[in-house]
Amino acid sequence: VNFLNFRRYLIDWYETVKRDLPWRKNQDPYKVWVSEIMLQQTQVDTVIPYFDRFIKQFPTPAALANAEEDQVLKAWEGLGYYSRARNLHAAVKEVAASYGGQVPVDKEELKSLKGIGPYTLGAIMSIAYNQPEPAVDGNVMRVLSRVFIIEEDIKKVKTRHIFEALVRRLIDQKRPSDFNQGLMELGALICKPTKPLCEECPLQSICLAHQQKIETTLPVKSKA
Ligand code: ADE
Repeated sequence: VNFLNFRRYLIDWYETVKRDLPWRKNQDPYKVWVSEIMLQQTQVDTVIPYFDRFIKQFPTPAALANAEEDQVLKAWEGLGYYSRARNLHAAVKEVAASYGGQVPVDKEELKSLKGIGPYTLGAIMSIAYNQPEPAVDGNVMRVLSRVFIIEEDIKKVKTRHIFEALVRRLIDQKRPSDFNQGLMELGALICKPTKPLCEECPLQSICLAHQQKIETTLPVKSKA
């Protein structure tokens, strides 16, 4: 697979189809953070109204840090996985206490915050700060496992590291945000789990799994 073509096809496609989502209006790291936490276990369409309300109620890290946990959980009601909200609240308090209310730019500082795992770290670094960091979630592993025929079990931690290493080599150094969001968007809209829309895919001509007609056998995911 030619890396230059991969980047160009992906980013050109993303520019033409990208959805006008509320967290894409600017690169405010706090808004990127809130959106990525909400999007982790929840669909985009569900997240949109929650995100808008949440940001209206808590427009800055300071506003969220000063809120009572009850208010935060109330704003989260219906989204589920409430530990996400509790961790976000605790992390934002840390940002207020230790970083003057500014979301850290430093990768190690960001990583030390509650609820910021490897995916969220990469998403904030790339989308808000335009740093060439991988943001590998299930969508991204599905796309890459197919384009490159990677048959490692995506349940294994080691496998995520393999995909992160690949993204580090693949990522567009000038446009890490568009590159990562393009991968997420492709996984969500085209490279779907059971019925991928290969005829509409910008990577069709370079996708190894498509060439071998094995796209729906990937990614490999163990049961246990
Ligand atoms: N899913 C996870 N992060 C996303 C983002 N930034 N845009 C759209 N869908 C996403």
